[in-house]
Amino acid sequence: MKIAVFCSGNGSNFQAIADSVKAGDIKADISVMVCDNPKAFAIERAKKLGIETFVTSLKDHKSRQDFEKAILAELEVRKIELVVLAGFMKVLSADFIAKYKNRIINIHPALLPSFAGTDGIGDAIKYGVKATGVTVHFVDAGVDTGPIILQDAVEVRPDDTHDSLAERIHKIEHQLYPRVVKLFVEGRIKIEGRVVKIT
Ligand code: GRF
Repeated sequence: MKIAVFCSGNGSNFQAIADSVKAGDIKADISVMVCDNPKAFAIERAKKLGIETFVTSLKDHKSRQDFEKAILAELEVRKIELVVLAGFMKVLSADFIAKYKNRIINIHPALLPSFAGTDGIGDAIKYGVKATGVTVHFVDAGVDTGPIILQDAVEVRPDDTHDSLAERIHKIEHQLYPRVVKLFVEGRIKIEGRVVKIT
């Protein structure tokens, strides 16, 4: 199966998935890393991993539609079957998502439906929850609303800062995301309505 991973920044989840592919645990090919930020560290990671990149930012295009068209063309040429959003900071349009229905997954640093949005970690600390976690879900036309595939909980400690909690959340992410990609590649994820079943 040919996979595209989308990143905007650090790319540590991309790295974790690529490492699992290299180790032979995920039997798929990361054909391309799509990136909308030419300064992203994820690009350095891709170079080291020998993975091709497609770097294009929104401001290189006349419109958001053209930006997405360029990305879609890249995916089509490469016959991509799974799009893995890994810290990709642009919201994809409903048209884009419809083209890859149930073939786009995302990771979110909270237990959805709690703390959706751009700062799931900070929002959980501010709210005072005692447990938060990580969610991997299918992407639908809403923001962080798609069918949930797997979740894992992380304790929030009384002395946690954004950084200390983020560190523990990232550790869980790096285990959970490769696991979900492997399940998808093996055809073991079924969607019934909005409920996902792992077979
Ligand atoms: C992760 O915390 C992920 O949950 C969120 O963005 C962050 C990306 O981190 N969607 P990285 O770029 O994979 O290191």
